[in-house]
Amino acid sequence: MTPPRPLIAGNWKMHGLAAALEEARALAGLLKAQPAAARVALCPPATLIDQMAWALKGSDIAIGGQDCRAEASGAFTGDVSAEMLKDAGAALVILGHSERRAGHGESDADVAAKVVGALRAGLEPIVCVGESLAERRAGHAIDVVQGQVRGALPADLAGRTFAVAYEPVWAIGSGLTPRLADIEAMHAAIRADLIEAFGPTGAATPILYGGSVKPANAREILAVADVNGALVGGASLKATDFIEIIRAI
Ligand code: PGA
Repeated sequence: MTPPRPLIAGNWKMHGLAAALEEARALAGLLKAQPAAARVALCPPATLIDQMAWALKGSDIAIGGQDCRAEASGAFTGDVSAEMLKDAGAALVILGHSERRAGHGESDADVAAKVVGALRAGLEPIVCVGESLAERRAGHAIDVVQGQVRGALPADLAGRTFAVAYEPVWAIGSGLTPRLADIEAMHAAIRADLIEAFGPTGAATPILYGGSVKPANAREILAVADVNGALVGGASLKATDFIEIIRAI
């Protein structure tokens, strides 16, 4: 079985005004000079998607949103649909990030509905899962994450294109990362679930690791079995840092 093509996705979170497009252009220049083995994506704030799509036209960098509403349109003040992200130039969307789960009360069922919306619009969802520090300390990390995988992924994903990102909540933005053996055990558990649920599609679905991925630790993390890429926050804001992570696979 050929392993999934790796994906390195940058999550800019709520960072970036128009001037930050310079970093996206710089990244495109670096990738043009030396193409990457991995697929590369940048997920800027929704306000920058359209401008970034123009700035990166002709490059190999895909653009993603950071969230979407499940419905295609309607009376949902302040929300953005998958169709709107796609229309603006996105090809992917991050869903169920722990900052959305914690800050906006998103449940696994909410995330599953968003996955359906993203696929309806033709976006590739990157579905985030991950345990809290208390859950890891209590020895429940794998159970918690498997529950999220089962709850946040709709039942009919066989044949569909999507990715899962394992992001331990306590590793995000903290500079902490799990032991490599713990990452390996978690990715193996997620892989087993994906294969059980979706057959060959589950074997071909990229499982990304996210949480304090930096140039200094990217190589060892990306070498772990069943780690098929990374979801990178802080270190994706600077092209010179992000390119080192991209080149680490
Ligand atoms: P971080 O964020 O790389 O800054 O830890 C990762 C994420 O939240 O996706």
